[in-house]
Amino acid sequence: MADRDVRIYEVGPRDGLQNETAPISTDAKLRFIQLLADAGLREIEATSFVSPTAIPQLGDANELMARLERRPGVRYPVLVPNRRGLERAQAAGADALCVFTAASEPFTKANINMTIPESIDAAGPVVETAREHGWWTRGYVSTAFGCPYQGEVGEAAVVGVAQQLIELGVDELSIGDTIGVAGPADVRRVVGALTGAGIGTDRLAMHFHDTRGTALANVTAALDLGIRCFDASTGGTGGCPYAPGAAGNLATEDLVYLLDREGLSHGVDLDALLVAARHISETLGRALGTKVGQAGGWRVP
Ligand code: HMG
Ligand code: MG
Repeated sequence: MADRDVRIYEVGPRDGLQNETAPISTDAKLRFIQLLADAGLREIEATSFVSPTAIPQLGDANELMARLERRPGVRYPVLVPNRRGLERAQAAGADALCVFTAASEPFTKANINMTIPESIDAAGPVVETAREHGWWTRGYVSTAFGCPYQGEVGEAAVVGVAQQLIELGVDELSIGDTIGVAGPADVRRVVGALTGAGIGTDRLAMHFHDTRGTALANVTAALDLGIRCFDASTGGTGGCPYAPGAAGNLATEDLVYLLDREGLSHGVDLDALLVAARHISETLGRALGTKVGQAGGWRVP
């Protein structure tokens, strides 16, 4: 991958929808995923094999994966918290798995009812099985910049969890600003600690929530540090029900516009992406209010 190529990892169908309380049909989710692929996205996080009690909105993961028309060259990762999730994901034919934990204990407890060491133990067999099959894996480190229960989170805690996930053998880490509290100085501090511990930027993705409007500034800081993979949600939807106060993810359309102005390649067509954003807005029955979604791209008269 050239230094001017950026991977956009779409989390709209998973992170974007998991916090929506009104049921969304599987048809509407599948249409969303197809429109995202039409726009050129090549990594689309499709759903989660978690407890349907914990995340009712994604309780249709089995059906969704069974009906998903997979396109060649597109990766459809799914979240897997434990052995039960692994069995379900495997039966559904998933071949890209994400395990998830966090850098703070109280969030990990609220989110997955485990301590951090227990979450690493739960992730172990998931990553091991995936590696045996040659499947792609990612490990999420949530609350890397702040925790809704604990407050500040030190970078040493982030590095500690990141190293344990790397030791399990994940292909990539996604470093999460779950509640959208980071600014660029925090990005430099946390990414600096990770690279200082020997984790290369080629194995790091950044997952910014735009709760306080700092996500694009954080992307710019991360680009300067050499990060070339960013998570984003078309329509800017999202949040975790176990992270009170977390608003939407960085909107994919806002990210695409920034990357275009930076002259970086990403393979996503903005106009086609806005069709997907309109679809999800109509599905949810509300305007989503992302900057580029409202203004559109810049067409020079
Ligand atoms: P628990 O209640 O401690 O689990 O939940 P348990 O093992 O005692 O099981 C309880 C029941 O759930 C049992 O059913 C299990 O079979 C069932 P019962 O016997 O009562 O009928 N169960 C499952 N069912 C389906 N699929 C499974 C599964 N596992 C157990 N995989 C558990 C523990 C981890 C399951 C639960 O807390 C959970 O599913 N949590 C997921 C929460 C979640 O998805 N959060 C959002 C994703 S993380 C995020 O958004 C952050 C991120 O975007 C990055 C960032 O922003 O920082 C990634
Ligand atoms: Mg998230």
